[in-house]
Amino acid sequence: TVAERVADLLARMTLPEKVGQMLQLNARDGVRHLVEDMHAGSILHASPERVLEATALVERTRLRIPLLVAEDCIHGHSFWIGATIFPTQLGMAASWDPALVERVARVTAVEVAATGIHWTFSPVLCIARDLRWGRVSETFGEDPFLIGELASAMVRGYQGDGLADPTAILATAKHFAGYSETQGGRDASEADISRRKLRSWFLPPFERVAREGCRTFMLGYQSMDGVPITVNSWLLDEVLRGEWGYTGTLVTDWDNVGRMVWEQRVHVDYASASAAAVKAGNDMVMTTPGFFEGAQDAVAKGMLDESDIDQAVRRILTLKFELGLFEQPRHPDPARQAVVIGAPAHAEVNLEIARRSLVLLRNDGTLPMAGEGRTVAVVGPNADDQHAQLGDWAGASGQTEWLPDGHPRELTETVLDGLRAVVPAGWTVTTARGADILTVGPDPEGEFFPDGQPRPHIVHPSPADPAMIAEAVAAAEAADYVVAVVGDHIELVGEGKSTATLELIGGQVALLDALAATGTPLMVVLISSKPLVLPPSALNAAAIIFAANPGMRGGRAIAELLLGVIEPTGRLPISFAQHSGQQPTYYNQIRGQHGSRYADLTQRPAFAFGQGLSYTTVEYDDLRIEQTEVTAADTLRATVTLHNSGTRPALETVQVYVSDTVTSATWADKELKAYTQVSLSPGERRTVALELPVAACTFVDAAGARVVEPGDFELLVGSSSRDEDLLRAGFNVSRPVHGPA
Ligand code: IFM
Repeated sequence: TVAERVADLLARMTLPEKVGQMLQLNARDGVRHLVEDMHAGSILHASPERVLEATALVERTRLRIPLLVAEDCIHGHSFWIGATIFPTQLGMAASWDPALVERVARVTAVEVAATGIHWTFSPVLCIARDLRWGRVSETFGEDPFLIGELASAMVRGYQGDGLADPTAILATAKHFAGYSETQGGRDASEADISRRKLRSWFLPPFERVAREGCRTFMLGYQSMDGVPITVNSWLLDEVLRGEWGYTGTLVTDWDNVGRMVWEQRVHVDYASASAAAVKAGNDMVMTTPGFFEGAQDAVAKGMLDESDIDQAVRRILTLKFELGLFEQPRHPDPARQAVVIGAPAHAEVNLEIARRSLVLLRNDGTLPMAGEGRTVAVVGPNADDQHAQLGDWAGASGQTEWLPDGHPRELTETVLDGLRAVVPAGWTVTTARGADILTVGPDPEGEFFPDGQPRPHIVHPSPADPAMIAEAVAAAEAADYVVAVVGDHIELVGEGKSTATLELIGGQVALLDALAATGTPLMVVLISSKPLVLPPSALNAAAIIFAANPGMRGGRAIAELLLGVIEPTGRLPISFAQHSGQQPTYYNQIRGQHGSRYADLTQRPAFAFGQGLSYTTVEYDDLRIEQTEVTAADTLRATVTLHNSGTRPALETVQVYVSDTVTSATWADKELKAYTQVSLSPGERRTVALELPVAACTFVDAAGARVVEPGDFELLVGSSSRDEDLLRAGFNVSRPVHGPA
């Protein structure tokens, strides 16, 4: 059995070999030292050449224990030219479609596995609440239920039919937990979060994937209640391994163990930090070379038992045996790469998810564009920008491929490319950039921090350029339609790249104002890593489409939407703010707060969670609950009638929220508990049956227990989280039920 093989191998390992198994080291700067001197168990950020070099080195070691190769392939294979780059998680989330997201993850696994990678650091289960945070695009948005649905689909897609399948890769639930609850949106700041708040919103998606068999969890950088997550035994022992029965592997984030010494300064040296990390149950220590000596020192000084290290090594070896790495090494396989990387079938899945990722937020009837011999002016800094379209963690994957004959092939279809390809015969597409977004340059406060460390360069918004704007205005004036593709820039996205503001920067607002003044119908396409604050000229435009980094096929999908080749079906997985200072704007905030609005602005978002238009209208009517007196052991059954009263087909996302009218501790006024997607032909009327276990109508009480409290509830069904989009029906729960804490 695997357990016997692990025990046999472990018994033959020296302490340095065991400690080495716990190390995941950065292969970018060479692997010889990592393998020969540190006995590394895993490498990350390794090119195929490095993987092969490291593997050959491992073959010469005493026990020849295969390496686990890990990478951040979070919306396709990052760093592999020609690989399929999908929309970011935020874009995928707008589809609200777990089956499609599972297919995306399966395709990713197939491409990734062919390149000798066994482990992806995905999916991200963080809840995006402060839009200034730089990593919003990596999330599935703001709602724990939707995140749980999509994340578990992604885990299934990656892990396939089980680890023995050579196309399966290890999934990682990250960043456990509360990492996104930043201060001021600043990445990895101390999470000011109570245990009740964690249990209420942040833990449920993690609990779900833990129970469904996600094989690895990554621990966030931050600390909670003064204790770095890396050593937070309440979270790791009591909750994750204790209450949820998680038996998988824990990996730290980048140098979490070292950070406890040099950054957070809660340990005096690496021996102490390493001992604490091992005792807390960490198995794989990412990029802390000092752990190698530190853990051995800790054993020598009696701060750590070798048996604690054994426990971690056992878990790592188990993964390696289950992946079959000892018998069938999964090396980069050029023959297989030629067949699977960027395969046409994968490009089709990519186009499908790109189409489903687009959210139509406003339409005065101008869309879809139609007619004969029309001219479309495509302007704006993101109209022809591959980086903006691909988003973070795409490396060079989706950009230019150099063909054997020396010619470049652009792998990403931008909006400009898409429109040129999709407009009907006889139409003309013109273009002008109109504005720049930013340049990157030295920090005005100086090149170095006071301690001599280099200060990273910062972003300088570009000034509006009257000549560029005039050119775009001329193009708009000569056109029947103007499509302005604006948004953010890759330099404003990612780890350590949070923003203080959410406004469109550079010359973009001046450009939109000038375009709006031309009177040519203006369609705003927002390609951005997160919801941005739109100026009045955009909010009053003929149409607005949100395309959150829609991936390689995104430009074509946007063109198809503008021209009505496809129907708009996406729904917002995250709310838009009216102003940067309005944070947070998520829909499920604690209700009835006396000070819940500003003197100068309401608390209403610009666009709310769940919103999204179709090219038709779907009316909701006649919400009925079969039996309104229930116990927590029952299933609530309801029906609602939908009518497609327009002339185009619809894919309607029927959203089901629950409101517990009085709770013994403060709570959100409504929470998404279920949804279903229904296709409706023009004119079709359909009664949709909805089912919800009453046991799902829990809240977290003041003692931290998840419970269904008896009393009155409301079922809210409709097309978005906004009150005006929801029908309501009451029901009463007569007996309490305690769920898991
Ligand atoms: O997986 C990532 C994580 O999300 C942020 N820090 C670095 C890790 C490895 O690249």
